[in-house]
Amino acid sequence: MKKRRIKKSVIKKGIIGLIILLALILLLIIKTVRYHNTNEYKLKQIGYNKEEIQTIKPISEENMTYILNNEYNEKIDDIIKQKYYIDKNLERYINYQKQTNNENIEQVVAIVNVNKDKEEYKETKKADLSKKELVLVNKYNYLDKDYKPENIINISNWYAYDGNETSKEILDKYIEMHEAAKQDGINLIISSAYRDYDNQQETYEYYKRENGEEYARKYASLPGYSEHQTGLAFDILTLGVLTDEFDKTKEYEWLINNSYKYGFILRYPKGKENITGYDYESWHYRYVGIEPAKTIHDENITFDEYYAYYIEK
Ligand code: DAL
Ligand code: ZN
Repeated sequence: MKKRRIKKSVIKKGIIGLIILLALILLLIIKTVRYHNTNEYKLKQIGYNKEEIQTIKPISEENMTYILNNEYNEKIDDIIKQKYYIDKNLERYINYQKQTNNENIEQVVAIVNVNKDKEEYKETKKADLSKKELVLVNKYNYLDKDYKPENIINISNWYAYDGNETSKEILDKYIEMHEAAKQDGINLIISSAYRDYDNQQETYEYYKRENGEEYARKYASLPGYSEHQTGLAFDILTLGVLTDEFDKTKEYEWLINNSYKYGFILRYPKGKENITGYDYESWHYRYVGIEPAKTIHDENITFDEYYAYYIEK
C-alpha cells in the first residue's frame, strides 16, 4: 500500500517536471524567434558590430528598412555620429559618399545638407518668406520675379554710394552697426544693397560680358536667386577701396570680428565655396538677426548649413 503511494507521487513529480521542461523549451523557442526578428539581430547578420548597432538604433523606421535591405556599410556609423546629421538625408549621404568616394564624412554631411549633391538651379523651390529675416535664397531657393520687400527706402549718402535702397527696418539694423564701427574709427560704405530682379539680371549679364559665364556664376546669382532681392544683403566697402582689396583693410577685420554682434554675417566665406556655391566675397554681408549670427559665427558654419540644420530640419 505504502509502495504504491510512493510510486504515484514519483510519477506525478515526473509529469510536472516534464511540463516545466517543455514550457521552458517553448519559451526559449519563442525568445529565439523573437530575437531573430529584431533589428539588432538583422543588423548583426549583415555585419554591424555592437557599437555600430547602438549608433544605428535610434534612426527612423524608413532609414532602418533601407539599411536592412542593403549591404554592410562601414561609413554609416561615422555619418550618423556627425554633429549636423539630419535623419531624412541618410540615403543621400550614403549615395553621395559612394559616388564621390569622399572620405571626409563631415564634408559629405555638410554638402548634402545644403543640396550640393544636386545640380545648381535645377531642383529649385520657392524661398520660404515666412521665415522673415531668416529666409534662405541661394541656387536652390528662389524669389518670384515681382517679389519686393516692404518699405523700400533710399539710403542716404552718409551710409551708401548713390542710388542704393533697402527696407527701412533693415537699414535701422545696419545703421546701428555702422555707428558702432564709426566709434572704433572704422568707415564703412554700402556699395550695393537691395537689387530687384531686373537689376540682378543686369549685374549677372555684366559679369558674364566682362569675364565669361563660368566666372559670372561664381560671383553673381541668376535673377531671382540673389539675396540682394530680399533687401537683407549689403555689399560693404570703405571709401576708395574696391572689392578685390577689401579683405586687406581694417574695416574688413572689424566686420569679421564684430558684425555678428549686430546680426550680420559674412555670407560667402573663404574655404566654403563648395557649400555656398559662390567664390569668397569679403564684401557681402547678410542680416540674419543677432542670435543666428552668433551661432553661425561661433560654430564657423555658413548660413546655408545653419538653415538646413537649425531652421528646416
Ligand atoms: N554676389 C552675390 C552672390 C549675388 O549676386 O547675389
Ligand atoms: Zn553682394
